Amino acid sequence: MSVISLTGIKPTGTPHLGNYLGAIKPALELANSREAIYFIADYHALTSVHDRQQMVDSIRSVAATWLALGLDPSQCTFYKQSDVPEIFELNWVLSCFTPKGFMNRAHAYKDKVAKNQSVGEDVDAGVNMGLYGYPCLMNADILLFDANEVPVGKDQKQHVEFARDIATRFNKIYQNDFFAIPEPIINEETHVIPGLDGRKMSKSYNNTIELFLPTKKLKKIVNKIVTNSQEMEEIKNPDECQVFALYKLFASPVQQNELRNSYLAGGMGWGFAKNALFACLEELFAEAREKYNSLMNNPTEIDAILAEGAVKARGLATKKMQNIRRAIGVSK
Ligand code: TRP
Repeated sequence: MSVISLTGIKPTGTPHLGNYLGAIKPALELANSREAIYFIADYHALTSVHDRQQMVDSIRSVAATWLALGLDPSQCTFYKQSDVPEIFELNWVLSCFTPKGFMNRAHAYKDKVAKNQSVGEDVDAGVNMGLYGYPCLMNADILLFDANEVPVGKDQKQHVEFARDIATRFNKIYQNDFFAIPEPIINEETHVIPGLDGRKMSKSYNNTIELFLPTKKLKKIVNKIVTNSQEMEEIKNPDECQVFALYKLFASPVQQNELRNSYLAGGMGWGFAKNALFACLEELFAEAREKYNSLMNNPTEIDAILAEGAVKARGLATKKMQNIRRAIGVSK
């Protein structure tokens, strides 16, 4: 049997370099040797996105990003989570096997509670049930398709571990090997991607570099990366520099060495280093950006690809859900 690799990407805005390295790139690589099931987790986004237009735009933007970067919908299953109602049925079923304590310990909820406590708010202020049950829905996403591998960012590891636990419980009760036990696949090398200010690149810190910025904007934003105030002549330490930290993630080993030497030789200004990073990103993403723009100008094409993907996904989902209903005894 082939190995199934599954992942979801939450459409909460335009994808950035952190999303690319942490999730998209490793998932695209896996898709070459695995049966890939990749989807847009729009109902996960609904826990925080309550603006219709933002939802519409983000779904398309995420879909266009994956397609532009080379995901081939004829070679994988690529769909929108909300198009597969079986996921939400399984969400309920799994919730009946999920200890409430797991959800209390889930990091997004826990962080929110801690924040509330630190400012003297009610612990559950601003927490909707969707946010609270978020990991359970993720477990349904994963288990419904018997995923073997789940490429995710480090912050999602805990959720995949919940899925392993719940699948094991279910299998013990009903049938050995009923659900495949998923393995989180985490790209250790690149899991902390520095943002403009040196903190982890994240939408919530507003320090991201979007993937398909037009050339001028890309240049402008790369110039905003925070550096120290060393003068041009001074010798600089590449290993303590945000610009170099990003460059390392994208440039070839030869390019990296060259820039490293420029840092160490002295006589290199920050503008030079930033320009090297800009040129590298521009070269890497120019072609995909064109494809992305062409898809975004043609949203019916995106919608049609996702609709086809939904048909494929539902083929798998309805079968598995039928087996689940039988296993638990609500259907014959
Ligand atoms: N929670 C993931 C994120 O925020 C997205 C996601 C939803 C996902 N369902 C999933 C990832 C299932 C992997 C598997 O990035």
